[in-house]
Amino acid sequence: MSGEGGKKVVKQYIEDLRKKIHYHNYRYYVLNEPEISDAEYDRLFKELEELESEYPELITPDSPTQRVGAKPLEEFGTYEHSIPLLSLNSVSAQSDVRDFDERVGRFLGIEEVEVEYVVEPKIDGLAMELVYENGVLSVGSTRGDGKTGEEITQNLRTIKTIPLRIFSDADADAPPLPLLEVRGEVFMPVSKFKELNAELGGKGEKMFANPRNAAAGSVRQLDPKVTASRPLDFFAYGVGRAEGKEFSTQWEVLDYLRRIGFKISPVIRRFKEFEDVIKYHEEVKERRDELDYEIDGIVVKVNSIEQQDRLGTISRSPRWAIAYKFPAREEFTRVKDIVVQVGRTGALTPVAVLEPVPIAGVTVSRATLHNEDELRRKDVRIGDTVVVERAGDVIPEVVSVIKSKRTGAEKEFRMPDRCPVCGAEVMKEGPIVRCIGVSCEAQLKERIKHFASLRAMDIEGLGEKVIEQLVDRKMVSDATDLFFLTKRDLLKLERMGDKLAQNILDALEKSKHTTFSRLIHALGIRHVGEHTASLLADNFGDLESLRNASYEEWVSIPEIGPEVAKSILLFFEQGSTKELLDKLERAGVSYEKKEAGVAEEEVRKVLEGKTFVFTGRISMPREEAKSIVERFGGRVALSVSKRTDYVVAGEEAGSKLEKAKKLGAKIIDEEEFREMAKGFK
Ligand code: IVH
Repeated sequence: MSGEGGKKVVKQYIEDLRKKIHYHNYRYYVLNEPEISDAEYDRLFKELEELESEYPELITPDSPTQRVGAKPLEEFGTYEHSIPLLSLNSVSAQSDVRDFDERVGRFLGIEEVEVEYVVEPKIDGLAMELVYENGVLSVGSTRGDGKTGEEITQNLRTIKTIPLRIFSDADADAPPLPLLEVRGEVFMPVSKFKELNAELGGKGEKMFANPRNAAAGSVRQLDPKVTASRPLDFFAYGVGRAEGKEFSTQWEVLDYLRRIGFKISPVIRRFKEFEDVIKYHEEVKERRDELDYEIDGIVVKVNSIEQQDRLGTISRSPRWAIAYKFPAREEFTRVKDIVVQVGRTGALTPVAVLEPVPIAGVTVSRATLHNEDELRRKDVRIGDTVVVERAGDVIPEVVSVIKSKRTGAEKEFRMPDRCPVCGAEVMKEGPIVRCIGVSCEAQLKERIKHFASLRAMDIEGLGEKVIEQLVDRKMVSDATDLFFLTKRDLLKLERMGDKLAQNILDALEKSKHTTFSRLIHALGIRHVGEHTASLLADNFGDLESLRNASYEEWVSIPEIGPEVAKSILLFFEQGSTKELLDKLERAGVSYEKKEAGVAEEEVRKVLEGKTFVFTGRISMPREEAKSIVERFGGRVALSVSKRTDYVVAGEEAGSKLEKAKKLGAKIIDEEEFREMAKGFK
């Protein structure tokens, strides 16, 4: 193409392409409802990249290709907020939150009966402000002290749920607002935080104490490439200046933000009765572990902006909003001892034995110290008073030491040079100390526990205590020995009755008919988790083919890297592996590759892309239900919305059922759900 006319056409073409990508980016990252395949998206993206490299003069800063690219900074600049970012008064007691409602009522006048509240989760992340000029992101900054923050635009640009360009509201041709300031919270999803920490720990780098610190550490990187590599996310919850736009309620603000491309927490509700606010606090508190982000309470906001204005602010906190917190997930306690735990792969993990302390409803008496480097970095000593944190289903950990409480009697801890269980030598692999003993009983116990676990062979009723006794009494020397146990053997164990023994034998028998992917997972090959196991099962079909494949064949599977392939090789080269596999066969363990694949396929057809809400009492643990849905490509939401496909109602299911009926979601019971999942766990 040549000449000015041609250039114009290209420019328009590129612009259309960007619009398309922006839209699909939004479908994928914000709504979690892609309309096109990943491959199709990649194709569009690549086309844009190619055109831009051909016509670099046509690159605009809001192009989706321009999220990362800026050079590392020496330091951040400051940014003056045009309207200060307020902070919130917070309360924990129910009586205090009732006082808040009463104050609001009194302030607005007794006659005023209608005070509607919007309840939002209080996201435990970092407050940010994003400035959009003519619809394009121009500045992003931290809250700072509320008046002045740090300018971190180039880092915030890397977050996929922060739009570089906002959609026009309703009418696509309407010009964007000349100026819009959006406020919200940057956070790191808990699941991503765990992955990041595992990765950092594995490399011997400093790990983060909690998702909030991880988000803070990631968003304040001078090199935006580092920020881009961190799994950050953003929820919008308010606006600052909005030129050319009037809002009459907070609800409208949220709705507007959603329409122009922001992600809004699905946990948000609107209530006319204050009692319902309190009930909702209870409900969210009970279910906070189901969310993939940390929240430390709810924020209760007066919905009407006119009422907000009348209420005003005092000393930097609005009178129209309050944070109603949940019990803390952090507590002080004392380290009674530091012990070493030996894992399935021989890794020695230092663990703090604590003075038991209740944290948000769970008594915590142990907390991980991860590895020697972490232990040194935090300088934890026996006798120290420490801060312990429990975040969601993450293992509790020691966050920091209160050094001012030291008396001098604290004892430093050294990692042992030998395995505390089998006495074999240890080897250091980066920050990880590993027992190299081939017959280490600690490793054996962990391997068997893994073998029997829910997501591996699923041997019901074979608990930790039984496994430990079996190993201690030398009744098993590898996992396959389980299948040769008799009732007489089992009855020798402590606290073992005839009924339990029979149950275990039945469960063992039942577990012999399994799927290939479960079996691979159960073998406990290093770096081969559930997902990799299912990839291997799909690609090789049976043990013979898997074992006879070469290193090259393993790494040729897209998601399998050299490290994993090497570890598979190592596994099959071990003499003990052959024996293990022979014994499995002798025990009669079988897997129906084809059928299993077909069954999985069928469940996937039913669950994939579907949104489930569980409500009321069901006998299956919520975690399990969630993991089934997610494993087959579905989603679990906390509350019923237009997008809910199924509501699984247990006993005493409440208001959600009504809502489900109104919105036309399908209501099923637990039995029907199990049926859909065809017994998968
Ligand atoms: S509104 C008008 N809404 O809480 C009050 N804040 O102490 C301004 N936060 O710095 C804040 N979730 O980091 C608001 N849904 C939410 C929030 C939220 C978390 C944080 C925010 C702010 C702090 C207020």
